[in-house]
Amino acid sequence: MAKIFSGIQPTGTITLGNYLGAIRQFIELQNDHEGLFCIVDQHAITVPQDRLELRKNIRNLAAIYLAAGLNPNKSTLFIQSEVPAHAQLGWIMQCNSYIGELERMTQFKDKSEGKDAVSAALLTYPPLMAADILLYGTELVPVGEDQKQHLELTRDLATRFNNKYGPVFVIPEVQIPKVGARIRSLQDPNKKMSKSDPNQKATITVLDPENLMTKKIKSAVTDSEGIVKYDLTNKLGVSNLLDIYSLVSGKSIASIEAEYDGRGYGDFKSGLAEVLVNHFKPLQEKYNHYINSTELDDILDEGAERANKVASKILRKVENAVGLGRKR
Ligand code: TYM
Repeated sequence: MAKIFSGIQPTGTITLGNYLGAIRQFIELQNDHEGLFCIVDQHAITVPQDRLELRKNIRNLAAIYLAAGLNPNKSTLFIQSEVPAHAQLGWIMQCNSYIGELERMTQFKDKSEGKDAVSAALLTYPPLMAADILLYGTELVPVGEDQKQHLELTRDLATRFNNKYGPVFVIPEVQIPKVGARIRSLQDPNKKMSKSDPNQKATITVLDPENLMTKKIKSAVTDSEGIVKYDLTNKLGVSNLLDIYSLVSGKSIASIEAEYDGRGYGDFKSGLAEVLVNHFKPLQEKYNHYINSTELDDILDEGAERANKVASKILRKVENAVGLGRKR
């Protein structure tokens, strides 16, 4: 079975973008792949975090992974900081990265733009991400579109390392879903839906209560035409809602267009809100079960143990290849 690895930052609550672009893929892929799924808390602290909030978000994310259908008997779920090999290999990958290539990353440019104090770790974020992936002999990395550039760099860094020190790393492939790879903000469809958006109406989170979810959909930006039609050039807002509707309901875009033909945006939005609320109800119930259970900690303990076993072996290979420490 091919190995897959992916990670999500425990910052804020998980959005519909994270769910449709990433988590949904993980759940599908876990059946015929060996899956490792990580809560990347060390990446989260590249920007300031409140200590108590971070701790809460780590647990929340673990519960969301499980509530969404991650099966701990099939897949490994763990917290990045509980597997020290990530930071150790991250350092070695930094030593093989160039400042120029890191400065060209669009995420670094976006997150550092206009800020006085930018952490060095925001720049060296991608070598740590490369370490996450390379530590497990990962063959496939399912992510949303915004992570594509980081994945290309991961492949470059792994190839560079192998050329210099010998064939230690598997070169991973990226998997981006055909639909749902870039869910857009509900308030400004030119931007992606993002956990860090200060405008709360721009994002739907998987834990939003029914009335809030409905309210956010009702206030989503559309256009003045009143026609439910997929058109990425002229109707970005409506097209985004159609993508969401189609992904969550399993219906084709054409059949949704036909269903709402001549009915206007009010009906369309009510229909979408209902589909979303019904879809996330079972997830929210399972979340409530996991978040207060000791089962969650048992799963994370076991995940860390399994991940540590695999990661420490590859780390040792890397250290031997580079000449660190004594030969083991
Ligand atoms: P993060 O935490 O920002 O996002 C987690 C996953 O959600 C996807 N995503 C989206 N997909 C569709 N539409 C959106 N609007 C949207 N917003 C986010 C992201 O593409 C991602 O797949 N750097 C990563 C975390 C990371 C990682 C890794 C990922 C660290 N190490 C190793 C894969 C492999 C990040 O910040 O994702």
